Amino acid sequence: MQLIRSARDMQAWSLAARRAGLRIGLVPTMGYLHEGHLSLVQQVRARADRCVLSIFVNPIQFLPGEDLAKYPRDLPRDERLCEGAGVDVVFHPEANALYPPDFSTTVEETALSVGLCGASRPGHFRGVTTIVAKLFNCVLPDVAVFGQKDAQQASVIRRMARDLDFPVEIIVAPIVREADGLAMSSRNRFLTGSLRQDALCLRRALDEVERAYAAGVRGADALQEAMEAVIRRVPSAAIDYIAIVDEHTLAPVAVVSGPVLVALAVKVGATRLIDNTVLGS
Ligand code: PAF
Repeated sequence: MQLIRSARDMQAWSLAARRAGLRIGLVPTMGYLHEGHLSLVQQVRARADRCVLSIFVNPIQFLPGEDLAKYPRDLPRDERLCEGAGVDVVFHPEANALYPPDFSTTVEETALSVGLCGASRPGHFRGVTTIVAKLFNCVLPDVAVFGQKDAQQASVIRRMARDLDFPVEIIVAPIVREADGLAMSSRNRFLTGSLRQDALCLRRALDEVERAYAAGVRGADALQEAMEAVIRRVPSAAIDYIAIVDEHTLAPVAVVSGPVLVALAVKVGATRLIDNTVLGS
């Protein structure tokens, strides 16, 4: 396994691999890897000859006051996990090389990125699409894999790739959960003491909405209220949003009549967590 630190070296490696007729797969991450990330590596390995995993805590997708400074980082541990998972290259660029002081170009998707997390974190998705476009240009992947936990992010990136004609196949891989149902996330390490147990309210709210839907409830307000009631029972939890939206357009629906994404963001203590499920598919 190789560690590559510069965009130029990454492009040189990828161009050589392409000239050798190899298919390149990319797993973009911000590091502090967990089983969810490693499942994305397996998805790439099933579809490509070489797997590149990028580790970059992208400063421009964090809003002022968010957890950029304390976002967990552990490169040696990540490298060990990558080696064990069969990653060929860890691409770990320096922030000041990717974003020189006079950096002045961004990539913005303007429809799918407006609601849900985009409403609570204005500018976040512009940061995501900008870095993912840069990673595509550095790694030149044939296929890139993203997790369904960040369902809106995956939709926004798929749209960006289509709109800007990136020749990259976008794959969305299923959510990987802890044994008790908590969706895996690098931020779960902030859930200390009773907060870890409290965080299960997200999964319980999704179980509740799935139960209500199975029982025949179709009104979005009623489904949403059922979820809110679950979260409200946990004093350390504060709802950022609960949304029931068309799976493709991410527009809110009043009545569930086709596949919908049910997504929620909840602050448990100081940690913002997201999760989702799809109903009616
Ligand atoms: O999902 C993430 O970890 C990040 O948003 C991504 C896609 C690596 C871009 O920084």
